[in-house]
Amino acid sequence: MFPPSELPAVSSGPAAARLSFPGQAESLCYDSKRVRFCSAWGPTLTARILKGAEFRDQIYAELRVELDALRAAGITPGLAGVLVGENPASQIYVRNKIAACEQLGIFSAKLTPSASITTDELVATVEGLNRRDEIDGILVQVPLPPQVDAKRVLETVSPEKDVDGFHPVSLGRLVTGRPGLVACTPAGCMEILRRSGVRTEGANAVVMGRSDIVGKPMALLLMHANATVTICHSKTRALPEVVRRADIVVAAMGRPWMVAPDWLRPGATVIDVGTNHITNAGEAERLFANHPERLEAFRKKGSALVGDVHPGAAEVAGAITPVPGGVGLLTIAMLMANTVKAARLRRGRAAGAPHPAEAARF
Ligand code: GUN
Repeated sequence: MFPPSELPAVSSGPAAARLSFPGQAESLCYDSKRVRFCSAWGPTLTARILKGAEFRDQIYAELRVELDALRAAGITPGLAGVLVGENPASQIYVRNKIAACEQLGIFSAKLTPSASITTDELVATVEGLNRRDEIDGILVQVPLPPQVDAKRVLETVSPEKDVDGFHPVSLGRLVTGRPGLVACTPAGCMEILRRSGVRTEGANAVVMGRSDIVGKPMALLLMHANATVTICHSKTRALPEVVRRADIVVAAMGRPWMVAPDWLRPGATVIDVGTNHITNAGEAERLFANHPERLEAFRKKGSALVGDVHPGAAEVAGAITPVPGGVGLLTIAMLMANTVKAARLRRGRAAGAPHPAEAARF
């Protein structure tokens, strides 16, 4: 992958970047993977699509080797998923996490307390899971109902079973560069960067969003990988200008198609963490005004899933993750990796070498 600083002269428009090669014929394509179309106007950049399935399959293949070693030592890692209430998006996420366990032969238990559960009751549920030896990882799907003190519940998860990486102890380990369980979505973003050969050292990285789950740990991981990191949020001034300086953009604001193509530096790597479920017809009509096929699909299905980055970004970026089919798959893969890691650390230190992604993390 070419770092943006090595790009030839570029003049960028709102939706497409054109490379100009003074005195050279239009057929010149300096990177056959990226420049797919050479028009009379010059070649148009088309981003490499960083497909989550490819990286997930690599990680699963590596995990299977580790799981075999654990099983030979009599250990089957186990994950407990706690799904409170009936939030449809959470139901899908937890179902997909349990399905991944089944695919890999990880033991799973799903607990589904009612939406009216109290903080004390949920704390007691988590304490029960802390005591179960066959459970190596505990995930409490968030958001939780408003009457529940989410922080207290998440702090109840034993740090050694904190496969979500949400516990202050896990975050503290990350801040100080100690090995530990890292939040799955940012860990998955780092896997995408590493496995697709994107150089982080010395790169300007912009993280959009400052949540405890994604933005903050993401910024720390990029900093540990020697990037120069800027964290943007709702109060950031001149946001497009800040984003335009980035070699690596991680978009995690939860705002549908907020990042416009002309916010991006041509050739930048774009990691789209957005998973925005559109169910409102008015919003769909506004968003898909110039995308009749997307509007048609929305009308048939009654919903659509879109990222935080406008699809036109693929004409400007050097590499980009799709939504769906990008980061989301890695979030689940890293949850599996964390569960296996938690099992090995807690009950089977002797059972095999660590997963390569883990060794590469710090
Ligand atoms: N809700 C949205 N993302 C996540 C996640 O990664 N873990 C949990 N537990 N809940 C979530």
